[in-house]
Amino acid sequence: ISIQQGLLFAKPLPYDDEQKGLDTQITIHLSHVVAENTPKGLAASKFAELVEEKTNGEVKVHVYPNASLFNDENEFNAIQSGEVEMIIPTFSKMTSYVPNWQVLDLPYLFNTDDEVQKVLTGPIGEQLLEELEPYHVKGLSFWHNGFKHITAVDYPIHTFEDLKGLRVRTMPSKALERQFASVGATPIPISFSEVFTDLESNSIDAQENTASNIYSKGFYKVQQHMTLTKHGILGYAVLINEKFWKSLPTKIQKDIEEAMVETTDWQFEQAVLMNENDLHKLEQQTGFEIYDMSEQERQRFKEKLSPVYDYYRTNVENANILNEMQKIV
Ligand code: LMR
Repeated sequence: ISIQQGLLFAKPLPYDDEQKGLDTQITIHLSHVVAENTPKGLAASKFAELVEEKTNGEVKVHVYPNASLFNDENEFNAIQSGEVEMIIPTFSKMTSYVPNWQVLDLPYLFNTDDEVQKVLTGPIGEQLLEELEPYHVKGLSFWHNGFKHITAVDYPIHTFEDLKGLRVRTMPSKALERQFASVGATPIPISFSEVFTDLESNSIDAQENTASNIYSKGFYKVQQHMTLTKHGILGYAVLINEKFWKSLPTKIQKDIEEAMVETTDWQFEQAVLMNENDLHKLEQQTGFEIYDMSEQERQRFKEKLSPVYDYYRTNVENANILNEMQKIV
């Protein structure tokens, strides 16, 4: 059956395995929502290659980009039910399940990509991944994209006051929604696959994202202004269905874990390079203006957003992980 038929008729599974019939062949379907030429898209392909190499072809990873298999709204259900073996959602989109992951959405917590890597690939990252346990999915790793900036349609955002009254698309995360509510904007949580059309039809005025996502999804075609606010990070949790994981031979699990460690190291480097590159490409677009926010303005913005930290500390269990992180960032 084709992917499309599969999506319409949920069962049988929405993909057709080329390897059907080969008893020893293990297939992992990996679904994600961004373009291929992005920090997540490229890393997914690299991981697929490495797994195939390390297992001598015993495991094949089929990667489905651009929400072509599942989108933000249905991918987590799909992995829990075993309709897909792997997904790579942003940690922000997982916060309704794992509220403590909102710590990663706190504005102006991280200053550099290195700090992000230290936190996400160290013991704190491990501790955060363990919080997935009740959901029967296993967290294999965290990946990085980069620092988020703000694009807007009608006028540039020079100061946080300029955000007042705007309808700003966010990922669904209470911390992110509060962030925009704190400056008098209206946060609108919608699926990534709808952002372009909603910007185009003016049902939203602005959005926050990395240079890589803004470039690869062409948001610059429907927004005129971008401000380098660097107010938060965007990153991913690489998830695998737990039952499927447990069904794998130990040797294969080891190969997959090794492939993941290698991919993760590579991924953090690539993410930084790609965002730099894509920012350059954005600078070259006519009709699209980029402004740097001054350090002084960033400081004011940060202070204005401090209620998000209060919200996090008072509403989230295990919020003391923030103290651990603040020793690193
Ligand atoms: C977004 O929804 O803006 C991002 O999560 C997309 C992604 O997965 O990078």
